[in-house]
Amino acid sequence: MNKSIKKPSNIEILISAEELAKRVNSLAQEIANSMSPDIMIVSLLRGSFVFTADLIRALHFSGIQPQVDFMTLSSYGSGTESSGKVQIIRDIVEDVKSREILIVDDILESGNTLTFARNLIKEREASNVKIAVMLEKPNKRKTNINADFVGFTIADKFVVGYGLDYANYYRELPFIGVVDFN
Ligand code: IMP
Ligand code: MG
Repeated sequence: MNKSIKKPSNIEILISAEELAKRVNSLAQEIANSMSPDIMIVSLLRGSFVFTADLIRALHFSGIQPQVDFMTLSSYGSGTESSGKVQIIRDIVEDVKSREILIVDDILESGNTLTFARNLIKEREASNVKIAVMLEKPNKRKTNINADFVGFTIADKFVVGYGLDYANYYRELPFIGVVDFN
């Protein structure tokens, strides 16, 4: 690991790979029960790429045939606190006008990122916008936003794995883990 980055002393498993896989399948079923088969997924990079990859394959088995696009937004820098200012680093390519959109993100925390993304997609005249997140930290919300589909609600601890990073490390972990810096 890059020497300028504080190395965690331990990463404790919070949600196992098996639990994640099970929940992704049931989330796909929930999504299929309340959205049409013809949705477009807007996946917010970088954190959501693992969840999105699993979710679209689970959606296939639930009878959904999504189109998929990616948007890179940034609100964090390299620290562990949300800065509040959201920027588009890379926009989607597809036109969302009159489409049923499912925004997919890794985690809903302050809500800054998802509020920005939802407003943007609505301004572009999508017919319907829903949000799916793998994780939610309920006590840190700074904006009035809720996800329509939530994998797990977790405590206010910094987590990594399953796409989530610390300084762009640990995205490859197949489980969700809590980082211990002590
Ligand atoms: P927001 O605070 O709801 O805007 O969340 C912004 C982004 O911060 C998320 O999409 C994640 O990429 C990142 N984030 C929030 N909490 C954590 C965490 O515990 N670990 C890693 N990244 C996080
Ligand atoms: Mg993110």
